[in-house]
Amino acid sequence: MAAATLTPSITGKHWIAGRWRSPINQHFESYNPARVDEVIGVFPEATAEDAESAVAAARAAYPGWRRTSRIRRAELFDNLAQLVKRDTNALAELMARECGKVVSECKAEVIEGLHMIQYVFGTGRMPMGDVLASEIAEKDAFMRRKPWGVVAVVTPWNFPFAVPLWMLGPSLLEGNTVVFKPSEDTPAVGQRLAELFDEAGFPPGVVNLVHGGGETGEALVNNPGVNVVLFTGSYDVGHRIQQLSAEHYDRITACEMGSKSAVIVCDDTRLELAVTCGIISAFKSSGQRCVSAGRILVHEKIIDRFAEKFVATAKRLHVGDPLDPGNFTGPVIHRAAVEKVERYNELAREEGAKVLLDGGRLTHGAHAKGCYLAPFVYRIDYHPGIRCIREEVFGPHVALIPFATDADAVRIYNATEYGLSMAVVTEDYRKMRFFRDECEYGMGYVNLPCIGAEVHLPFGGVKKSGNGHPSAAGLIETVTHKTAWTVSHGTEVKMAQGLSAEIED
Ligand code: UN1
Repeated sequence: MAAATLTPSITGKHWIAGRWRSPINQHFESYNPARVDEVIGVFPEATAEDAESAVAAARAAYPGWRRTSRIRRAELFDNLAQLVKRDTNALAELMARECGKVVSECKAEVIEGLHMIQYVFGTGRMPMGDVLASEIAEKDAFMRRKPWGVVAVVTPWNFPFAVPLWMLGPSLLEGNTVVFKPSEDTPAVGQRLAELFDEAGFPPGVVNLVHGGGETGEALVNNPGVNVVLFTGSYDVGHRIQQLSAEHYDRITACEMGSKSAVIVCDDTRLELAVTCGIISAFKSSGQRCVSAGRILVHEKIIDRFAEKFVATAKRLHVGDPLDPGNFTGPVIHRAAVEKVERYNELAREEGAKVLLDGGRLTHGAHAKGCYLAPFVYRIDYHPGIRCIREEVFGPHVALIPFATDADAVRIYNATEYGLSMAVVTEDYRKMRFFRDECEYGMGYVNLPCIGAEVHLPFGGVKKSGNGHPSAAGLIETVTHKTAWTVSHGTEVKMAQGLSAEIED
């Protein structure tokens, strides 16, 4: 990485068993992708022993936390909500500096995290099981939930605040304890979040934080003291987590692992609305949301008109300093990401793309020190062998693909190993229903971009995009196991299915 020219502002620490520690071992830097010589902080890289102590701390805190009243656990989230409200702007600014998303998006993300906290607080007093009937009149039967134990939360840099809260919230409310490893690209936001948990009064060991990259992650996943791994990130890492976890007999994993999401634009559409949906889906967060659209499927009758307006709008987008509210989008996360996106731009050309816009790297003036890439837009006919319209790029790179019939659009949409998010833009309710039922996705939108989830809705995908929905409201299913609890109020034993309880002499 580029040499540091500014004094690091943050000294990274692990938070284990309620103590903040900065062990003398391997360190790594977090820096601003808009100015790669600005170091945000220096963070210790957790060794296998650090990961081990964090899991041990979580295990030790588990019985006490599990026995704490559910309402009390929820009330700590109310404390946390107040702190997040107090610090919203500072958190958004730190996030913008560390991950390069524009500050308005960062603020929306802090609010999304706050919504998760509020959701968790609200569900504290809500029912959390079922009362069921029994064949035997004297019996009461219940479905009750129990926590699994220790949850490892491994999160990405692109949503460094909301995604951890999606996972931490339900895990903790249900009585699990947690070891949290934020992305090595956004450790400062991860640490700030852990500090807020500390300030909110979560007892020692209930939440633990370790910094680090792949090795730290592997040490956590290999630890038999971890019962659940919740992960959002790339397919390769998620798949590795699933493989390692298969060695553990009592291990649950929920992995959300990327996408090749799409917007489908029908011929009856309102063109302006369709263009707005496409632009937001493809280029918000510089195309680095897991739900970002890498493909826009457009009916062949209108694709020329759509393409013209889309490219004209994409050209107008301001790409620049994330802290400047006038910018639509900021840099990509690092140089390696710039190179990866450029390789896919090149691949698209090789695979027959007609390039409509290639903004390229932005390297002059205010952009000189950042990892800036302007939008790349191309038109390409669908062909099953083409990789650039099947593989995740994770950058400002989008294909416009013509289709002739709705059935073709479905075939093209489903012709990727991923299935996370899709939007259909149409005025026709029959078409809308057809796409709803035939496309493979976790989140579907109509006359909207394919990004923009809300915390009380399920979030997660199918196929290579993942399983177990490690996020938002649906997570209770992953971080608890259901138990049947059956109580007889009779004075003698009565069995179900007509089985006799008589014990013959
Ligand atoms: C992600 O990209 O990992 O749906 C999460 C959205 C956001 C969450 C995205 N609220 O766009």
